[in-house]
Amino acid sequence: MSDPAISNNIESHLVENRVFPPPAEFAQRARVGSLAEYERMYRESIDEPDKFWAREASELLWQEPWDQVLEWKCPDARWFLGGKLNVSENCLDRHLSGPRRDKVAIDFEGEPDDRRTLTYAQLHAEVCRFANVLKARGVGAGDRVLIYLPHVPEAAISMLACARIGAVHSVVFGGFSADSIKDRLADSGAKLIVTADGGWRRGKIVPLKANVDAALKDGDGQVEGVVVLRRAENDVTLKSGRDVWWHEAAAEVSADCPAEPFDSEHPLFILYTSGSTGKPKGILHTSGGYLVGTYATTKYYFDLREDDVYWCTADVGWVTGHSYVTYGPLANGATVLMYEGAPDTPDQGRWWKLIEEHRVSILYTAPTAIRAFIKWGDKWPKGYDLSSLRLLGTVGEPINPEAWMWYRELIGGGRCPIVDTWWQTETGGHMIAPFPGATPTKPGTATRPFFGVDAAVVDDAGVEVGPNVGGKLVIRRPWPSMLRGIYGDPARFQQAYWEDYKARGYYFTGDGARRDEHGNFWIVGRIDDVLNVAGHRLGTSEIESALVAHPAVAEAAVVGRPDEIKGQGVVAFVTLKGGQTASKETADALKKHVGTSIGAIARPDQIRFADALPKTRSGKIMRRLLKQVASGQTVTGDTTTLEDLSILARLQASGEE
Ligand code: WTA
Repeated sequence: MSDPAISNNIESHLVENRVFPPPAEFAQRARVGSLAEYERMYRESIDEPDKFWAREASELLWQEPWDQVLEWKCPDARWFLGGKLNVSENCLDRHLSGPRRDKVAIDFEGEPDDRRTLTYAQLHAEVCRFANVLKARGVGAGDRVLIYLPHVPEAAISMLACARIGAVHSVVFGGFSADSIKDRLADSGAKLIVTADGGWRRGKIVPLKANVDAALKDGDGQVEGVVVLRRAENDVTLKSGRDVWWHEAAAEVSADCPAEPFDSEHPLFILYTSGSTGKPKGILHTSGGYLVGTYATTKYYFDLREDDVYWCTADVGWVTGHSYVTYGPLANGATVLMYEGAPDTPDQGRWWKLIEEHRVSILYTAPTAIRAFIKWGDKWPKGYDLSSLRLLGTVGEPINPEAWMWYRELIGGGRCPIVDTWWQTETGGHMIAPFPGATPTKPGTATRPFFGVDAAVVDDAGVEVGPNVGGKLVIRRPWPSMLRGIYGDPARFQQAYWEDYKARGYYFTGDGARRDEHGNFWIVGRIDDVLNVAGHRLGTSEIESALVAHPAVAEAAVVGRPDEIKGQGVVAFVTLKGGQTASKETADALKKHVGTSIGAIARPDQIRFADALPKTRSGKIMRRLLKQVASGQTVTGDTTTLEDLSILARLQASGEE
């Protein structure tokens, strides 16, 4: 691999030789209880995928059975052809006939410490009622609904209500700006928005409704209605004829909404995520395959038991919140803890207090959070009783061995298996991860693939490389929860994922990886221009476009640099227009500008002013050099195509702003 950052990472991973077999007691009760059992089932799933997936799918409720498990015309996959189901019925109604009826489905705690539980029966009633609100406001099957809510039960309720009537939701993370809402509205053509007056974050109110108003200020476009949840009780204005309060609209409709059958390939949601170029892509997921994938991975990887209290800390605005707060756990009839706010409010012990008080048994979070807790000090977790935990999970970015060991010892008390899950918005569900009762783990590796997942590390020609050689991570055959496309842009779908290995029909993940001699995958990270900041995906090009839209900026190039807590931080190299001053004030103004045009997570950590950016003779910005400059490394490798070497020297000399 040519990128020195990747080779360095590989080197540091190569020295890891601590192995942690699954705890015997855990393995005894687990669904997959030994490595041999995993290997047998994996083999079967690869040799006879139809048989394997049909068995998993048959645990769900289908209103009409499928005739064919898979039709694959690369890149178009159709799963469970001819089958009809209702996703919300599978997450709700299916549990109502037995003891799960009165089991807690959502155990909610708001940041200001307000609490609320919803049993499966209550959640079902709320979903049906809100589905009727949607219908009453003209939303039907196939219509898009934009959801912009805090992390409160109504987020799950509105997603499931869309699913119930075949509407397609597009959730926008509450931390994104008005401009981001605007772009997603334009791309998805959503006719209704579900939002709240505000949500709580670090003791402050996030003004969600005001952001929606700002997004709609130049005209409503196709938006016919806005439903507003009262959450933070902050003042908002409702536009008459367009906006209604959730509670008022809900009071006018019944709680009876039968679950209609939808085709297995009926669209379920669009979720926008960053790519290496251009604006965020609307990743499209459909019903049957997505549900089977998230159902099965939740069941096996968290090894769910009836009495678990399961907590995934992700916000519903990200794919993890879709697959592993909402659909996967609810399809399994789990009790899901939802916490609205920040981990350090009112103090840095909040999460551990939540675990103690709600008796959480499964905790699923991101390495960036773990690193922040390490920094805040051991006294916080040590001050609480975490003995209810029996399984830990991580997601979103590679976990460094130090964080892994801390998580295992301080949080898991040395007794909980750690499930490091590699997957993507596009994959819909977990792809590579250890089975908690079967797979020996090592800090830093997501270990081996899920059933039916044919993952491989290949070279540029698509040929699988040998053990411990770096290459590109690909998936060589379709899987049920795979994306079905980029909404409205088949050409981009083809180009972004399938072009590299067109002849072979492999899906290219965008990640670099190596596989060790035991078959474990070590994910190195993105090899395209996508950043992973605190477990969140950001495109360098999105941040660059935000910067060049600022009147002071002539040109901008954005790269990532290693960051102890966030994994990666954002560094922007900026050349200013004539007459502008490269000052701290300008740098602050630019950071703020990115925050308002995308969201706070995209704010550059550092702006470096330059009088020119290093380019090849053909005019391409040399990002490799900028990455090295940004992370303070000596610039290595080929610089012969650099147009003007003095630019490089000046860049290296340019200090922090
Ligand atoms: C990275 C989040 C290493 C990877 C679910 C991937 C990981 C991108 C892991 C997808 C992991 C996710 N180990 N890297 N366990 N999980 N990634 O779409 O680079 O927000 O391509 O989905 O996160 O990010 P996305």
